Amino acid sequence: MAERIPIASDHAGFELKERLRAVLADAGFDVDDIGTHGTASTDYADYAHPLAQQVSEGRVQRGVLLCGTGLGMSYVANRYPGVRAAVAWSAEVAELARKHNNANVLVLPARFLSDEDGIAILHKWLDTEFEGGRHEGRVAK
Ligand code: RB5
Repeated sequence: MAERIPIASDHAGFELKERLRAVLADAGFDVDDIGTHGTASTDYADYAHPLAQQVSEGRVQRGVLLCGTGLGMSYVANRYPGVRAAVAWSAEVAELARKHNNANVLVLPARFLSDEDGIAILHKWLDTEFEGGRHEGRVAK
């Protein structure tokens, strides 16, 4: 069965979200698009809460959030137990966010990324495993 993966953005992340939603669907994921569904101004928290709740409750393993800077979305998501939301502005940061921080929510600063960068960051985050070892204890602390 395909892994279900939620994705959500505010208006600032909407266009890149649309691209990434298609990338995820093409990669075989069962994509749950929480919104927003257009460019009208919205509040990022209205989208971060339902996504983070799903991850926190273990209903999904991971999710993707986008806003202008990535900051508002990450602040909301990181309030939820068990959620480790990482703002990644490069593929290298996304890789380290998985290897060292076991990030289960990827947050993209859409206003500062090209579509190509966003897609590369998403792929790196999806394809990189947590290294465990010395990072296990650090994440637990
Ligand atoms: C929206 O203008 C912007 O503030 C929002 O997308 C995000 O960057 C907040 O952290």
